Amino acid sequence: MTEPGVCLVLTGPTIDDCQRQLDQSRPHIDLAEVRADLLDPSAWAGLNAFSRSAGLPLILTLRQPQDGGRWSGSAEERRGFFQTALGGAWTWFDLEDDQRLPDIEAAWLGRGGRLVISFHSFDGVASGWAERLRAADAPGVTAKAAVSPKGSVEFLRFVAELQALSWEGAVGDGYVALAMGGFGFASRVLAARLGSRWTYASAPGQVVAPGQTDPATLQNVYRFRQQGADTPVYGIVGNPVFHSKSPGIHNPALTALNLPGTYIPFLADELDAFFAVCDRLGVRGLSCTIPFKEAVLPHLAQSTDAVTAIRACNTLWRRPGGAWEGDNTDAPGFLSPLADLVGPGRLVGLRATVVGTGGAARGVVWALKQAGVKMVVLGRTPAKANALAQDFDIEWAPLVPESRPVVESHAELIVQTTSVGLGADGQDPLAWYEFTGREIAYDIIYSPRWTPFLTRAKQAGCRVLFGQDMLVGQAFGQFERFTGLPYPKHALRLQE
Ligand code: ATR
Repeated sequence: MTEPGVCLVLTGPTIDDCQRQLDQSRPHIDLAEVRADLLDPSAWAGLNAFSRSAGLPLILTLRQPQDGGRWSGSAEERRGFFQTALGGAWTWFDLEDDQRLPDIEAAWLGRGGRLVISFHSFDGVASGWAERLRAADAPGVTAKAAVSPKGSVEFLRFVAELQALSWEGAVGDGYVALAMGGFGFASRVLAARLGSRWTYASAPGQVVAPGQTDPATLQNVYRFRQQGADTPVYGIVGNPVFHSKSPGIHNPALTALNLPGTYIPFLADELDAFFAVCDRLGVRGLSCTIPFKEAVLPHLAQSTDAVTAIRACNTLWRRPGGAWEGDNTDAPGFLSPLADLVGPGRLVGLRATVVGTGGAARGVVWALKQAGVKMVVLGRTPAKANALAQDFDIEWAPLVPESRPVVESHAELIVQTTSVGLGADGQDPLAWYEFTGREIAYDIIYSPRWTPFLTRAKQAGCRVLFGQDMLVGQAFGQFERFTGLPYPKHALRLQE
């Protein structure tokens, strides 16, 4: 087995289902775990035959509810189950560290079998977990601990305690240490860095919770097999973050340029702890999204004028010595598709309306101002619109139908920066404005691609720009900050 390996967790309920899951993921896995507790007990009779025909190393487990499983028989039945399994071609029996079966274990090791001695904590990161992991070490044993950090502080503790653990003098087959849930996602992808022998993945379609991933995604998106203990790590920090398209933009570019590295989502809820995790995991570059674009500013040793003016940072990279430097590539990322559309130098003097007064609007206004655009900003909260207008010396108006004449006099470009129209809400914040067809309409929302605002503009004959144009533009700038190289555009394969 190449290490770290990818272990597919088979989730029954029949042997045929397990076989299908195995065959579907076979190109991307090294071993699989049979969760007998998820199998219909009528299928147990076929388990040993399955172990002989599977064609790759298998772990056999029978999890009980306290360990996240479904089986709740007696101790005698459990012993009988593993007794029968002694006749199978398993590579490992996985037994919980507080429910050992010494005679079965001895018989199994005597036949050349191996053991996983495991410990699960579903309520946080149990204190003493790392000592329990270390204590499980023995000849023929891979020690396993799976804990559940409830936030960034606990994930930091998991990483720190694992890294502090000395495995010197160990006599067994190493360990697998895993942080479950969204906050621990990095521990699944960075198994090589954390020294785990393998990582667990779910079959496609069985990935039901944040933090889980499937074998093809591990490899095709996160470049699992290209990683080693020192592979550079990049990522996006946010909350929520698992919907982000950025891993699908940055990882293919690393691959296209044959650069080492992986780019992963980091769910966080506390930035001091998160940045300490970054130090420990070798994170060299970060994209930053909601709600942290302003909150990261105190963590920057240096930042660009754009960050200072916009008061938001979406890109962080390491200075020599390791301190963080920050830039805001949202602004140029927003501007470049627009400049491409209207032609070089044609933005100066353009009259524009910006709808919204939040953090994103700030970046848009800064970028347009730099380009010499004349603007009015519309907001539903007059105090915020007024403050934004003052900061950038532009006009403002309330976001109400009575502002129609103001928009009409700033209608060469209309930019939509609010969250209205996001997802499936079907709303248009400018429903009272009738497009003439001469406007350029630009919505920075990228999901859906066609917001009601853009749909209406298109129907009127306007030229439109999509949120995805900006998403891609800001990511290009980030990639350059991270690697010093221009983004290889042929690598981009985002779905329209
Ligand atoms: P972002 O960083 O994405 O800009 P934000 O700072 O929360 O997010 O800003 C969201 C913007 O959308 C704000 O201008 C917000 O208006 P308020 O500041 O008055 O809340 C605007 N917005 C959100 N929902 C809106 C709605 N239903 N109608 C009009 N504006 C809305």
